[in-house]
Amino acid sequence: MIKFRSSLASFRVVSLFALTIAIAASAVFAVLPGGGAAAAGEPPASLQSENEAAAKAAFLAVYPVFMHPRCMNCHPREDAPLQGDDLRPHAQNIQRGSDGKGKFALKCTNCHQLTNLPGENMPPGVPNWHMPPANMKMVFEGKSAGELCRQFKDPKQNGGHSNAAGAVHHLEIDPLVHWGWAPGDGRSTPPLSYADFVRKMQEWVQNGAACPE
Ligand code: HEC
Ligand code: HEC
Repeated sequence: MIKFRSSLASFRVVSLFALTIAIAASAVFAVLPGGGAAAAGEPPASLQSENEAAAKAAFLAVYPVFMHPRCMNCHPREDAPLQGDDLRPHAQNIQRGSDGKGKFALKCTNCHQLTNLPGENMPPGVPNWHMPPANMKMVFEGKSAGELCRQFKDPKQNGGHSNAAGAVHHLEIDPLVHWGWAPGDGRSTPPLSYADFVRKMQEWVQNGAACPE
């Protein structure tokens, strides 16, 4: 019993000592130049630059997916979607149209069905096959990693997502993105697996979504 009391007492002393140190330490941080930010819960500068490097590395790892024909074919610079691994303009002079669903009688879903049609050179398909609309083209073609990264964070260009997390969530739910890894007979798939792609995009966001130059 006595032993118990004394160990409790020494526990109290130790914890009081720790508390004193903590108070003293926070007082020191508060008076150091720049210490205000550290005391308010900001990570120290070294950790911040580590995160920044990790975010940039994660984005550079996913960049080849966006540049892959399965993704770039619907995210071209001009108004015709592209076809094949050689990025040729879509046959039959198919055009984006204001809503991205085709112009005049040539609507995407006339040919693109709810699923891929079997056989080489047959139209691939998922529900609501279309490309981005004329007022928000979401161009991937010709963009450097840095340019594309900044575009994903810009609500005026990314479909109105207020931050990078919103843009990444879109990648997890959109059937058009999933299609890239199940593109139908005779078509190649992006260089990362879908799981690795999403994991790297999450890594980019969790580390602050910094962009390569
Ligand atoms: C007249 C039929 C037709 C219409 C309309 C049509 N497509 Fe296609 N599309 C095809 C066919 C067929 C293929 C397959 C070509 C091949 O694999 O050689 C194809 C392929 C594609 C591909 C290439 C897939 C890949 O990665 O190789 C994309 C992207 C595409 N279409 C987008 C669209 C969009 C967007 C629209 C509407 C704006 C549209 N298409 C309208 C028939 C059509
Ligand atoms: C059939 C056309 C089509 C294909 C193929 C396609 N996309 Fe898209 N993508 C769209 C459309 C349309 C939107 C606009 C949002 C919507 O309506 O779903 C979009 C939006 C996006 C966005 C959001 C843009 C932004 O700036 O935040 C990302 C990211 C994206 N796609 C990535 C991909 C990736 C990665 C692939 C390949 C694995 C891919 N897309 C393949 C049609 C396509």
